[in-house]
Formats: sequence, structure tokens, C-alpha cells
Amino acid sequence: MKQQDSALQTATRLTHAGRKGKSHHGPVNPPLVRASTILFPDVASFHEAHGSRRVYGRLATDTTLALEQALCAAEGAAACMLTPSGLSAISTTLLALLQPGDHLLMADTAYDPTRQLCEGLLKRNGISTTYYDPLLAGGIAALMQPNTRVVFVESPGSLTFEVQDIPAIAAVAHAAGAVVVSDSTWATPIGWASFGLGIDVSIHAATKYIVGHSDALMGAILTTAALETRVRDTYKQLGMSIGADDAALALRGLRTLAARLAVHRDSAQIVARWLQQQPEVAQVLYPPLPGAAGHELWKRDFRPEYACGLMGAVFRSDVSEQQVAALIDRTRLFGIGLSWGGYESLILPTNPARYRSVQPEKWSAPMLRLHVGLEAAEDLLADLEQGFAALRVRPAMAQAA
Ligand SMILES: Cc1ncc(COP(=O)(O)O)c(C=O)c1O
Repeated sequence: MKQQDSALQTATRLTHAGRKGKSHHGPVNPPLVRASTILFPDVASFHEAHGSRRVYGRLATDTTLALEQALCAAEGAAACMLTPSGLSAISTTLLALLQPGDHLLMADTAYDPTRQLCEGLLKRNGISTTYYDPLLAGGIAALMQPNTRVVFVESPGSLTFEVQDIPAIAAVAHAAGAVVVSDSTWATPIGWASFGLGIDVSIHAATKYIVGHSDALMGAILTTAALETRVRDTYKQLGMSIGADDAALALRGLRTLAARLAVHRDSAQIVARWLQQQPEVAQVLYPPLPGAAGHELWKRDFRPEYACGLMGAVFRSDVSEQQVAALIDRTRLFGIGLSWGGYESLILPTNPARYRSVQPEKWSAPMLRLHVGLEAAEDLLADLEQGFAALRVRPAMAQAA
């Protein structure tokens, strides 16, 4: 894709980025290159290639380069590095940007394994972490230390879906010489203008919507030009790399991301509105839902056409965990499983209080996480109706059913 094509609409860019142009004669998709060793015809050309990434399969192949290019075009990043999982993208980035003696400000709503990284590997290496209320916005200034090098955001947050004021957070971080790293998995590469909001490194669990079909794990680290070398050096030293087959699956997923998100978004609105009407539900945690917590900030900072299908629901405090389990067990179309972002709907009970330092008591009622997939919304509602019917049976009877 040529430079001026950045003016094209997102859906158009996703279908053309990382592919050869109109004059290309051959298959639509870039070749799937499985390679470790790359051969050179003579010593001169071997030496000439020195410094290029096209010398060894771990560093680049046509397939991984095409995916990197397409992801950069999708999000407006200067550089992309691909890792074997979303979590390894997070650990690689934090190891690249922090060293012993540094301090990290971490959103309290971060994905739990990210917290485990802070409490494990980072702590063992002399890096300290403070967890901050994701709604603090510019109030994080009071938590900044002279050695704070990274402010980590995840918006909406894992399980509780708080929307963070990224520009206000970035202004404080940048004024103190720190960088803003974002777990942007919910937004996907097209759901917001991450770099325009002040994010310096945007990380994706590509496992979710980019791959989109629940058949591969992958992470993507997207950086500004200023941070590329720092992150890439650590990325290379850790030996991060992905296989050609997974790269091809992610590239295939990316081509249809805009089209899939439009369906996830529409069905998720229908499901969220329906959940809101159920007397047992105290709160629906879905920022794209008008009136939901974080909706105004979400409207300001996200692209409404690409909302995803992941949401939460908080039950009234008199609903028991057994009743929620009965609901989940009764649904037929919502699978019980970790992860999200595939074509299929998923449902899980959640207990965010277990993973929080800031006000864990806020989340004492039973909760659900739902991923609204690509099934017809009316079928999903009928399925949830069955589930709620099971919940409405007294707990003792629900257990006997
Ligand atoms: C918000 C978020 N970030 C990161 C990850 C980690 O991705 P992966 O499972 O590919 O390591 C997940 C996985 O569920 C996630 O939900």
C-alpha cells in the first residue's frame, strides 16, 4: 500500500494493507513462508544483507512482514513487533522500558496476568509498581515518583470496563518524562486513535479480535518511531518470534476485522439493552451503551463504528453465585471459556475483587462477563432468556435441575 493510501477509510485500508498493489500478478495473499534458514547465493550478497531483518526466519519473513505492515497501517503506528501471545507482548514492552530502580504506575483494572508480571518478574528485578484507580485521570500526578518511567493504561478495564481519560493521563506522564503503554485489546487497532490520544506503545492480544477465530495465540506491540529501537532491542534479545501459520491466520483475521466488529457492536447493543431490563441485573458494564458508566468518555475517545462485543453485568446483591451458575449452565449458545474476540459467544462468572488493590469491596455482588459473538442477536436473546429462567428458580431448585 502506498503512503497516500492512509487517507482511505479504515475498512479499505484493512483489506489492502501489507499486500502488493494493482500491478501485482499472482495470489491475492502474500506467500506463507515457513522459514528458519534463508540462503544467499554468494558471500557478497550475504554480507550485503547484514543489518537487514531478512536474513533469518526469527527476525522476519514475507508473511510476518506483511502482517506487521498491515497492523501499522491499521493503527497508524511507526513499528510493529509480533510475539507468541498478548501477555508476552506486555512483558517484552515492560522489560524494554523499565530497569532496576524504576517505578511503574499500573491501572488497577489491568488484566490479572499483567499484575502477576508486576508482582513476579518485575519486582524480582527491582522494579516497583503502584496500582492506581483507573478513574483518577490527571489525578495520577499525586502518585508519580521521580523514578516513574511507565504509566500503563487498559481502557476499558478488564472485567469492570472503566473508561480511562487517556489524554489527561498522558499529559501527566509526558510532563514527567514517562511513557504511556496501553493494553488496547478491547479497542482493537481500529477502535480508537491510540497515538493521537497520547499513547506511546499500544499492545494487542491479537489472540482476540485480530485473529478473530479462536485458533491462534499472538501479541502485537505497536510503537511510535521514537520508541521503536528501545523496544525492538529487548524484543530481539528475548528471542521473540511467531510462526508463519499463525501470522497468516492473523492476517486473514485482520482483513475482516471492520466487518466483524460492526456485527459484534450491533448485537452487543441489543444484548446490553436487554440485560439492562432484567430486574436481577443492577448494572450493565458496556461503555458503548448510552447511560452506562464511562459512556461519555467512550464517545469522546473511541470510534463508535468499531465497538467490540465484550461486556460485564453486575447482579443485585440478593442474587447468589449458584443462581448465576444455573443461568450460565442453562445457556446453549454461550460457551464457557477463557478468552474472547472470536466469532463465538462466551459467558463466565467473574470476581474482580479478587484481583484489585483499589476499592475491591466495590465489586462484592456476583458478576458475569459476556462476549457477544456473530450469532444472530435474536437467538442470543432467546438463549439468555432460558438462562435467566433458570436463575429465577430458587437456588436449591436450580441445583436440583
Ligand atoms: C485485556 C487482555 N490483555 C491481554 C491478554 C493476554 O492475551 P494472551 O492470552 O494472548 O496472552 C488477555 C487475555 O485474555 C486480555 O483479556
